[in-house]
Amino acid sequence: MMWYRPQAFVLGGSGKAQLRVRGLSAGYGPFEVIRQLNFDVLPGLTVILGPNGAGKTTLLRALSGQIPMRGEVLLDGEDLPEKAHEIVKAGMALVPEGRQLFPQMTVLENLELGGWLQKPNIRQERLEMVLQDFPKLRERATQLAGTMSGGEQQMVAIARAMMSAPRLLMLDEPSLGLAPRMVDELLAMTRRIADQGTTVLMVEQNVRKALAVADRGYVIERGVLVAHGSSKLLARSSVIQEAYLGAAASDTRTASQALEKTVRST
Ligand SMILES: Nc1ncnc2c1ncn2[C@@H]1O[C@H](COP(=O)(O)OP(=O)(O)O)[C@@H](O)[C@H]1O
Ligand SMILES: [Mg+2]
Repeated sequence: MMWYRPQAFVLGGSGKAQLRVRGLSAGYGPFEVIRQLNFDVLPGLTVILGPNGAGKTTLLRALSGQIPMRGEVLLDGEDLPEKAHEIVKAGMALVPEGRQLFPQMTVLENLELGGWLQKPNIRQERLEMVLQDFPKLRERATQLAGTMSGGEQQMVAIARAMMSAPRLLMLDEPSLGLAPRMVDELLAMTRRIADQGTTVLMVEQNVRKALAVADRGYVIERGVLVAHGSSKLLARSSVIQEAYLGAAASDTRTASQALEKTVRST
């Protein structure tokens, strides 16, 4: 049995949620990590790639209101609120790096926490929907989250985020540390979520597999965007080939020359 029903997430978002980001900078105290980022998250699945320390997590933290930011972020044309709980209410949820579950709490309790902003009756309805989408989690409802495998915990973390009925779901390296088969199932699931109308913005280090499921991608290095394009174009680009897929770029200089220029100019 898969972790989610093949027909799951039918009660997803509107299929239209999008984010417009202009001049976004954020960091920690005086230390600016991401600088002047401009990008758009369109309906579907957008992946953010880049080496360790590039600022990918910092970006998702800024977009979810966990750290202050400067710049303009519009969710469906409206200014993103500042506070984290208001951002959740506006329809954006984050599955954080490293899952961040409460290990001493049960699966059910972790899921309920994902609906903490909702009225109890709405939360109960939502929980029922989420458990229908993730039948294995119903079986594990009373298991302590900390006793589950990494892949199982990741499913709980995603289900918890789905509790807030997001229109835009952000995931930070969901496949980290998982077995290859689990990685495949998880990435197929993010594709399914996007197909059912919830816009997905995902950070991934599993470059090849992430580009295979995503519609488009951005590459961040040292806090700035160095390339972007459709997944197909990016997968062929010398930027990605050289830095992440370990291939020589000599025969991949056709459609990707624009991307290459972007990189060299920074
Ligand atoms: N809480 C923090 N305080 C200070 N610096 C941080 C903090 N978290 C991350 N950094 C720094 O910010 C930079 C980007 O980190 P991060 O966004 O986690 O990168 P990535 O997710 O792309 O690996 C790194 O240089 C990292 O050391
Ligand atoms: Mg990170």
